[in-house]
Amino acid sequence: MNIFVFETSLEASQYAYDLVAKALESGASTFGLATGSTPEELYSIIRDSDLDFTDAKAVNLDEYYGLPADNDQSYAYFMKKHLFDAKPFAQTHIPNGTATDVEKEIEDYNTILSENPVDLQILGIGSNGHIGFNEQGSPFDSKTRLVDLTDETIQANKRNFESEADVPKKAFSMGIGSILESKQIVLMAFGENKAKAVKETVHGEVTPNVPASVLKNHSNTVILLDKAAASQLDPS
Ligand code: GLP
Repeated sequence: MNIFVFETSLEASQYAYDLVAKALESGASTFGLATGSTPEELYSIIRDSDLDFTDAKAVNLDEYYGLPADNDQSYAYFMKKHLFDAKPFAQTHIPNGTATDVEKEIEDYNTILSENPVDLQILGIGSNGHIGFNEQGSPFDSKTRLVDLTDETIQANKRNFESEADVPKKAFSMGIGSILESKQIVLMAFGENKAKAVKETVHGEVTPNVPASVLKNHSNTVILLDKAAASQLDPS
């Protein structure tokens, strides 16, 4: 994997934008998208750009289980607000957080992924090294499934909810196996609280204990960091 360190998250996001624009120009039709604070600047740059996604498709990594799309903490709501309202896609896919038939929702999402191979996948990283909602221990060949969120993830994400009790305890997540099928992966990490996970991803062994470490097995992954997230990396 190629690692680039930028002075600021904005500069890193601008670089990510250039990769997205280049992919679109080269005919990429399916973009794997992430939520969280990390891609917000990227989505803002895209919103202000003249990129046209009306022929493209978007598949999102994950969704909280139990939250309807109109709940302002759902990832469906996040994507509408940060990207889709301003930049319409031909198709957008996000797991349905309120699906009553969980097995069918999972099967349908895996079908969507196999019919729409991802050309470029945007990723953030959890402070414990998770990608999507693939928590520590997630098998590297996993597909979409309903996962239990770890306490660390609930703690990290509670800032967006009124109280910790409101944070869903489960989520639908695209699996690591599906993420690895993307032709190109762009992982971004910003801030001091990501520095340990970044260090373990880059310098540690490839292990399910650090889900992002599996990206070392992917032939076209770029990691974009700000200085704080890179602060525990070996300078060489
Ligand atoms: C959530 C999402 C991940 C995201 C992570 C980090 O757990 N499921 O896709 O990468 O949070 O979020 P943030 O970018 O807000 O730090």
